[in-house]
Amino acid sequence: MSKKETAAAAGTTADEFEDEEAREFSRRGFLKIAVGGAGVAYAGAIGYPIYRYLSTPVEKSAELAAVKEVVLPNADKLLKGSALMFKFGVRPSLLIHHADDSWIALSAVCTHMGCTVAFNPATAQIECHCHGGKYDAKTGENISGPPPKPLKKFDITVGQGSVTVRRA
Ligand code: FES
Repeated sequence: MSKKETAAAAGTTADEFEDEEAREFSRRGFLKIAVGGAGVAYAGAIGYPIYRYLSTPVEKSAELAAVKEVVLPNADKLLKGSALMFKFGVRPSLLIHHADDSWIALSAVCTHMGCTVAFNPATAQIECHCHGGKYDAKTGENISGPPPKPLKKFDITVGQGSVTVRRA
């Protein structure tokens, strides 16, 4: 059936029939685009957080590998027998100024399950409160509890007005 015959059967002119057909086509096209756009937005809303969650460890390790040294302004004034928490890249770390005037910088990430450890000035040990792990604050060696290995040690330079911590 031609357009003229279809239009005549519908009681309209051929031009009205073509206009109606064009409007119907544009409505369908709009609906397709709207539904497609909503689908893409929905997939993005769900997919992006999943991507961020899964990619974070990779990004963190890349950032950590990129950091070679950290300068801690005024850390040379740290009192004897105390510690300073700082970040080496994204990792929590500890700078300790011992009572005998020796210094050490260590990763503050427990080697058992990754909790953040803390310096206890009363015992002069580094302790993990998650499962009771203990480390020697002079060397970072694991001395009791579940930690399987020592804390990672950094090289340090104590200067006038700052302490520089470097990847060992
Ligand atoms: S995470 Fe530190 S002892 Fe378990």
